[in-house]
Amino acid sequence: AETHYHQFVVQRTPVKRLCKNHNIMTVNGQFPGPALIVRNGDSLVIKVVNSAQENITIHWHGVRQLRNPWADGPEYVTQCPIKPGATYTYRFTIIDQEGTLWWHAHSRWLRGTVYGVLIILPKFGSYPFAMPKQEFPVLLGEWFDRDPNAILRQAQFTGGAPNVSVAYTVNGQPGDLYRCSSQDTVRIPVDSGEKILLRIVNSALNQELFFSIANHQMTVVSADASYTKPFTTRVIMIAPGQTTDVLVTADQPPARYYLAASAYQTAMNAAFDNTTTTAILEYKSAACGKKGQPLQPILPQLPAFNDTATATAFTAQVKSPSQVEVPTNIDKNLFFTVGLGLNNCSVPNSPRCQGPNGTRFTASINNISFVFPRTNSLMQAYYQGVPGVFTTDFPPAPPVKFDYTGNVNRGLWQPRRGTKLFKLKYGSNVQLVFQDTSIVTTEDHPMHLHGYHFYVVGSGFGNFNPATDTAKFNLVDPPQRNTIGTPPGGWVAIRFKADNPGVWLLHCHLDAHLVLGLTMAFLVENGVGPSQSVIPPPADLPPC
Ligand code: C2O
Repeated sequence: AETHYHQFVVQRTPVKRLCKNHNIMTVNGQFPGPALIVRNGDSLVIKVVNSAQENITIHWHGVRQLRNPWADGPEYVTQCPIKPGATYTYRFTIIDQEGTLWWHAHSRWLRGTVYGVLIILPKFGSYPFAMPKQEFPVLLGEWFDRDPNAILRQAQFTGGAPNVSVAYTVNGQPGDLYRCSSQDTVRIPVDSGEKILLRIVNSALNQELFFSIANHQMTVVSADASYTKPFTTRVIMIAPGQTTDVLVTADQPPARYYLAASAYQTAMNAAFDNTTTTAILEYKSAACGKKGQPLQPILPQLPAFNDTATATAFTAQVKSPSQVEVPTNIDKNLFFTVGLGLNNCSVPNSPRCQGPNGTRFTASINNISFVFPRTNSLMQAYYQGVPGVFTTDFPPAPPVKFDYTGNVNRGLWQPRRGTKLFKLKYGSNVQLVFQDTSIVTTEDHPMHLHGYHFYVVGSGFGNFNPATDTAKFNLVDPPQRNTIGTPPGGWVAIRFKADNPGVWLLHCHLDAHLVLGLTMAFLVENGVGPSQSVIPPPADLPPC
């Protein structure tokens, strides 16, 4: 195994998109940031130097960080922010993970531009599928006409919905269908007949996406750095936080074909960016048309933005390659409602009450709207026994029973605020059902758990019914993931063994919901002896 050393200098860099320059936050001046390529079993040592004027942290999304929460990165959860002029070195090892993950800022909305791919190659030799001739990362993102943090501030001030993006991007480029963007459209050159691997990441701030390639099938082989039972598809749906690796064979007549992504939007009555980003799959033998001009590429047909059936059917096809060991003797049976809410305003329709009917948007899990600490991190407070930073009374179920498909009790529209954690004993088997509340609107919530991957054992629409739905769980070959969508107006069930001690954030990976409180954290206690306990914090952990 190797150790990879990197320096990440966080800095403002002018970047021109859609005819305009923006001074965006970058790592080493690159957008997207540097690609990290390692092998399973390797270690990474990444020194982050904050040369900007704002706090930052970096999160290694999907890396299990076994007993090592100090390297996880969410601000005020496992560390305090790296202040301007300060540095922090993240040190971690990849243990039994292969495939595609990614890294991103985990400080307010800086991840809107601060992200990159983390490729984990197999420890020895080859993939459990046909060896591709070439590999390409496809990082899908969103481009805003303002600094993402300015949009966050505007949303937080007004209490309304944040501004939507003005473009989607592939590897930072909007592509042919946007103004001033054609020249820099990402091109993927292929030889006829060859097989390529696309490592697709959804790094968008607030948007689930459909992705397709004109005239080509994709074979899904991996998701969230876990291999899957291969299956072919014309379209994939990918939520922020998720990764999907697909094999594509260049088996079509030599020409130019668009790869394209557009919104999968489930919130009713909500504004969204309905543009389409493209890159070009370019057969080398078809580079030119009649007058030496490149041929016009062919556009794929993408599903309609509200095509929940296609999105859900795709996700349901993702399975583990063979039988896996799903926890069966459940120690903790948890039921978490996830959804938006509305806070009443004392002065409705004032500049600070621009939510529906003069309210302010909020969001919650089990009616608790999570409040991040401001002066300490949860993990440091826990490790050092600092009282008063959090409590451990996060409820295992919502406060009252209600019908999630319709008429939700008005009292549940205004969640309570709190910094509440849920304590888990080391090694306990957890079953967790997420239920969309349908308060304000039905919406897909991509839920991400730090420090773990989990098995997705079931999913459905309407109210989760323990009596009938549990019996239908897939305990044979469910997929292993770190981010899974709660279907709009429905539920999804996951299982995992709490074998990674530390404080681990669980949240909706739509940042618009994360900042409104759609998050909580698990406190997984140490087990017996050092091999089941959190390692000591590094000396350079940023002071709070
Ligand atoms: Cu990809 Cu908490 O994040």
